Amino acid sequence: MTDQINPVKVQKMQKMQKINGVRGMNDLLPADAAQWAHLENVLRDLTRAYGYEFLRTPIVEATAVFQRGIGEVTDIVEKEMYSFEDRLNGEQLTLRPEGTAALVRSVVENNLLYEGPKRLWYTGPMFRHERPQRGRYRQFHQFGIEALGFAGPEIDAEIILMGQRLWDELGLIGVRLEINSLGQANERAEHRAALVTYFEKNATQLDEDSQRRLVTNPLRILDSKNLAMQELIEGAPKLLDFLGEESLKHFDAVQALLKANNIPCKINPRLVRGLDYYNLTVFEWITEELGAQGTIAGGGRYDPLIERMGGKAAPACGWAMGMERVLELMKVSGSLPEPSAQCDVFVLHQGGETLTAAVIVAERMRSAGIDVILFCSPDGQSASFKSQMKKADSSGAAYAVIIGPDELSKNEAQLKDLRGSGQQRAIPLDGVVEAVIDAIVGATE
Ligand code: HAM
Repeated sequence: MTDQINPVKVQKMQKMQKINGVRGMNDLLPADAAQWAHLENVLRDLTRAYGYEFLRTPIVEATAVFQRGIGEVTDIVEKEMYSFEDRLNGEQLTLRPEGTAALVRSVVENNLLYEGPKRLWYTGPMFRHERPQRGRYRQFHQFGIEALGFAGPEIDAEIILMGQRLWDELGLIGVRLEINSLGQANERAEHRAALVTYFEKNATQLDEDSQRRLVTNPLRILDSKNLAMQELIEGAPKLLDFLGEESLKHFDAVQALLKANNIPCKINPRLVRGLDYYNLTVFEWITEELGAQGTIAGGGRYDPLIERMGGKAAPACGWAMGMERVLELMKVSGSLPEPSAQCDVFVLHQGGETLTAAVIVAERMRSAGIDVILFCSPDGQSASFKSQMKKADSSGAAYAVIIGPDELSKNEAQLKDLRGSGQQRAIPLDGVVEAVIDAIVGATE
């Protein structure tokens, strides 16, 4: 006897073991697909209402796009990027952690501002190596808008109004807007000097991360979630007190436009955002309904970015929302759409010649714009009408078209109303399309 394990057996067992998806990266299952489609439709209508054009960038970019765009000393670039070296040519590449830097790269590369300002939008998967939890994923989806080439406060207000319209459209409850101004570089430099002095004086109260940031990026200390440091952070010099006349004027004008449109907002002087490209207006929409991951969207003005990415200096602003978080909030708000039927008509048959007739009739209906599911047997055997009817019911179809040998011999089919009266009647086989259309139109009148 030997207790050695047979390698062939092990190999076979390995083959049978299921392979799971990557942690924090989720499948979109059919049951949820309609909700996403609904959200995407609302987003498309929203962008059309404000004249925004669609732009898609690749999922992979040169790592430098994000290092330079988002900033070296940010959580995203320091800790969260999926970066790798192209095995074939050694290029440093990164799965995009956000859309703005990539979009600006494309705008600059394709000279899109040549003819003047642009209003753009995008959507798609983003990747950040964060600790997964409810509302925080490693692959998540953003919808974002970016208005490039506009300097005035009215565009800041426009993009915020778009957000508010969207939340209203989606029926979201409990969303509040927080807003701040980060001023200009020189104003931040003065504030930064005051911050460094303040935190140096209180250095013993800083955690390890913040001590490091004191040297690299003291503003980020204000972002710290460390509860032990909150009092210290609360007492730190506020950037708003360092803003010059122009910056204050811009901030006031944005707020006045929001007020004129009845958009309530709270000034949060601690709102600094986690990306380094911002100046002047920054904002976030936050809810208490989703637990720790309550920021459903955020953005602001990023006038320095286009030049930083190698383009001709031009002002810009935008925001992005987490689609998973918004859908989750729709669920909490009870505003998700009812699941819709998979098809209008379900076609039943008994195999053989009835199947041939069923396939032809189903194709004819599809050509007329009717959505049809044809019963297909899982095991190649014909199934009873009773079991087929169960499938028809669960498909959500409004009508069943039944073609059995009796019907076929008379060149007929049965049309059954599955939702309303439940009535069933014989119709001519070559008149199925007309009969179904009559029934659908009749039911909606
Ligand atoms: P952000 O605040 O990093 O901004 O992300 C925007 C939104 O994406 C967040 O408010 C959140 O809803 C969602 N989000 C972020 N990380 C995750 C995650 N790990 N899981 C699920 N959802 C997440 C930006 O990305 C900027 N590009 C926004 C912007 C556009 N600023 C100007 N234009």
